[in-house]
Amino acid sequence: MKRQIRKAVFPVAGLGTRFLPATKASPKEMLPIVDKPLIQYGVEEAVAAGVNTLIFIIGRTKNAIADHFDKAYELEVELETRGKADLLEVVRNIVPRGVECVYVRQAEALGLGHAVLCARPVVGDEPFAVILADDLIEEDASEGGTLSQMARCFNKYQCSILGVERVPHEETNKYGIVNPLPFASRLNNVGGIIEKPKPENAPSNLAVVGRYILTSRIFDLLEHIPRGTGNEIQLTDGIAALLNEEQVLAYEFSGRRHDCGSKLGYLIATVEYGLRHPELGSRFHTYLRELTGSLGEAEG
Ligand code: G1P
Repeated sequence: MKRQIRKAVFPVAGLGTRFLPATKASPKEMLPIVDKPLIQYGVEEAVAAGVNTLIFIIGRTKNAIADHFDKAYELEVELETRGKADLLEVVRNIVPRGVECVYVRQAEALGLGHAVLCARPVVGDEPFAVILADDLIEEDASEGGTLSQMARCFNKYQCSILGVERVPHEETNKYGIVNPLPFASRLNNVGGIIEKPKPENAPSNLAVVGRYILTSRIFDLLEHIPRGTGNEIQLTDGIAALLNEEQVLAYEFSGRRHDCGSKLGYLIATVEYGLRHPELGSRFHTYLRELTGSLGEAEG
């Protein structure tokens, strides 16, 4: 029988130091892009791909995420009394019916591999997705969200799939980089994978960007791998062990990615999503045009 992806793991226990002080009491995944927190974009992408169990690996700043996906009785009553039906809809539909949220506490921040391992009791022996919500990927108009694209690929090949994209050579030290062996259009067999190699040691410029579909065998491997880069248990090292045993594919998704783990990427995403926002897109566009015009005059 063909297996399908029903569970998605969201590691959200990171310290988010690059966004301090904003992330002092709230995880970086709760930073909003216009009016929705990053994590919600990730959740919507997962649900659109057929996921019905959302597993959040939470840390110190746990409450904000659990509260965001929980029912907010007082707020709902308040909106109802004030006759704000559209906002009530927005608040009620954050998690669609039939989708369950599970929270697992990662007591120590020992790295992404360790965070994924914490999901083992909930995932069991099914294949599952991992989404790093700070990699925000725009939905492709014809191919859909990145996880939907990868789930289709999984349905066909029934093996682990990594979402990858080409990055500038000088940036390989920010990503897990794969050694690609051609397999099909936009699809490579992963011949090797290294965490954050210097450009001179990188096997290619194909980088893993925050979307994974993995078989449950990864858990056994993550239990035993030693700490790697940054003295952390790296998911990349688990995947390197996995591909000695099973096929792992690297899928070049279609969709523009924003690195919202960096301040500049976050600002750019805010501007792009602001421009497309149904309520304020056109006014924001006018404002930006005026602003760039006056900046041009000042420079000229
Ligand atoms: C993590 C992974 C890395 C991956 C990246 C994608 O790194 O360890 O392999 O390429 O996410 O965003 P981080 O950005 O958490 O340092």
